[in-house]
Amino acid sequence: MKELIDSSKKIIVFSGAGISTNSGIPDFRGEGGLYERVQDKYDLPYGEAIFDLNYFDSNPHPFFDLSREIVFHNAQPTLCHKWLARLEEEGRIAKIITQNIDRLHRKAGSQAVLECHGGYDKGRCRSCGMEYDFENYEKDIQHGRVPHCRCGGVVKPNVVFFGESLPEEFFHVWENPPRGDLLLVLGTSLNVRPAADLALKFTGLMPSILVNLEVTDHDNRFTHVIHEDLDSFVKSLGN
Ligand code: APR
Repeated sequence: MKELIDSSKKIIVFSGAGISTNSGIPDFRGEGGLYERVQDKYDLPYGEAIFDLNYFDSNPHPFFDLSREIVFHNAQPTLCHKWLARLEEEGRIAKIITQNIDRLHRKAGSQAVLECHGGYDKGRCRSCGMEYDFENYEKDIQHGRVPHCRCGGVVKPNVVFFGESLPEEFFHVWENPPRGDLLLVLGTSLNVRPAADLALKFTGLMPSILVNLEVTDHDNRFTHVIHEDLDSFVKSLGN
């Protein structure tokens, strides 16, 4: 395993919420994950409603309360985020495709990052479509207020909700996969499409390693599978 990683020059990374749990940000479906917590905390019809457009339009408060936790939690990159940033400095990362909206890859210094479930950089009014930069509405989120547009509509950050289209760049990478000699899939249940489909597409093109605490439905697609904590895995490589 270590030799395979050490000999790889153009690594494609696909990461999920599991890479950030050691920074204090819970994952979604793992033990005590977010969906269990938010359902009770906000009395949601079901956990995923917090990323459902119809629910958001009826009650945006749970999403913005969760956003305050994610964005202003002041979480720090994990050992694994930092290791990937170092590999990129060595010119050995082709692309990091993350499902996460916590920006911890960027905070660790990674630049070749595709946030395939969007994020908070920009937002758009649900009524008139006016676009806002994060700095225009970050104070609202920080102080637990729902951000509003000048027209009175609610500004929704460009986090991809269920049923919404993923960013253009995702489909560009789908059509033009970066050249890579190893696929690293880190901390994801591979439950959510089409993001997971992209990772699985790459398993057919190159050797692949899945590191995830729990078994996934797609373990058999990978050359190597390790069910271990990601930071322990990174340490076991001598980092
Ligand atoms: N080390 C290794 N694996 C971990 C760790 C850790 N420290 N912590 C959690 N995990 C594993 C869990 O066992 C779980 O299988 O990470 C996986 C995270 O899976 P999910 O919670 O389903 O998160 P993810 O796969 O990123 O979800 C994808 O679903 O709800 C949507 O938009 C949301 O981007 C999210 C998408």
